Amino acid sequence: MQTNTINKDILVDVKNLSIGFEVSKKMLKAVENVSFNIKKGEILGICGESGSGKSVTVTSIMKLLPPNGKILDGSIIYKGQELSNKSEKEMRKLRGNEISMIFQDPMTSLNPVFTIQNQLVEAIRLHQKMTKKEAIEKAIKLLEMVGIKDAAKKIKLYPHEFSGGMRQRVMIAMAIASNPNLIIADEPTTALDVTVQKQILDLLRDLREKIDTSIVLITHDLDVVKNICDRVCVMYAGEIVEEADVVEIFKNPLHPYTKMLINSIPSGSKNDGLLNVIEGTVPAVENIDRSKCVIADRIRSLKEEDHEENPQLREVSPNHYVRCTCYKHFSIDKEREAKNDL
Ligand SMILES: Nc1ncnc2c1ncn2[C@@H]1O[C@H](COP(=O)(O)OP(=O)(O)OP(=O)(O)O)[C@@H](O)[C@H]1O
Ligand SMILES: [Mg+2]
Repeated sequence: MQTNTINKDILVDVKNLSIGFEVSKKMLKAVENVSFNIKKGEILGICGESGSGKSVTVTSIMKLLPPNGKILDGSIIYKGQELSNKSEKEMRKLRGNEISMIFQDPMTSLNPVFTIQNQLVEAIRLHQKMTKKEAIEKAIKLLEMVGIKDAAKKIKLYPHEFSGGMRQRVMIAMAIASNPNLIIADEPTTALDVTVQKQILDLLRDLREKIDTSIVLITHDLDVVKNICDRVCVMYAGEIVEEADVVEIFKNPLHPYTKMLINSIPSGSKNDGLLNVIEGTVPAVENIDRSKCVIADRIRSLKEEDHEENPQLREVSPNHYVRCTCYKHFSIDKEREAKNDL
């Protein structure tokens, strides 16, 4: 959440971003006062449960919010330019060329009636001046780069002739076709089985080195964060509750929600009784009281006075940020006891 806009190492600087959705003529805040930045060449994880605001936050960077969604406040600065003032035409140019996105389900982005070659060549020629022949050569190279063997043959196939993991590789090939500065990957491996998941994550990590890009990786899985990210923002109910380097967050997690998330990662195959401490779900947007600590209702072992009023994200040690001082009163053991007492 460092906010130094003249720092050349910062690619995207998001400041005090709030996003709302109009539902039945009421504006509901889904993301509140979120600040973070994406540094050049880093893999930033955005982690949190379903409904915590991960996708809404990153789709606002791309200016791809649904029609009832609106940026209510804040700024998104990409390479020194304010994105929220950009026209749709300017954004379209940025999206294909400099910022790419990879989604959870490649089938929603691939067209089933065209071959992989058709789609890759079209994507390449949309942004780069090339003959068809050159674009086909580039497409084959890209497929090889993302680990598709026999690419010259495979490129002639249709999406349904590829496995889920292979389709995701094709999407990654498309995403890197223009050598983007930033790749936003929204749960890119959730639909895949564990072994393929790992391969795709390894591929993303390798690509970061090869093409020198920044990656934002959205996931609900802290284990994924641990394996691939440099830094992580933990989101809850539309707010960032903690941000730190990955090594630091696993060594010294502070916020109760982060501790509970880490604690709910299965250690090995056996359930050691530490699982499922984290009960309940993220509250619905219309039920969130933002003047309070958003996690208060989810935690049994803390008293009301343990939480701050109107808590803000604060730097508590270099590059380690946490929201609400309730973390000072929280421990997993106490929470487990409180749970068992019920
Ligand atoms: N078009 C919409 N209209 C109204 N509310 C919306 C809309 N899109 C998202 N929201 C709300 O915004 C909040 C954040 O949603 P978001 O999709 O960012 O969550 P997420 O963290 O990406 O969850 P998941 O892990 O399930 O993808 C949710 O409470 C959701 O209900
Ligand atoms: Mg999402």
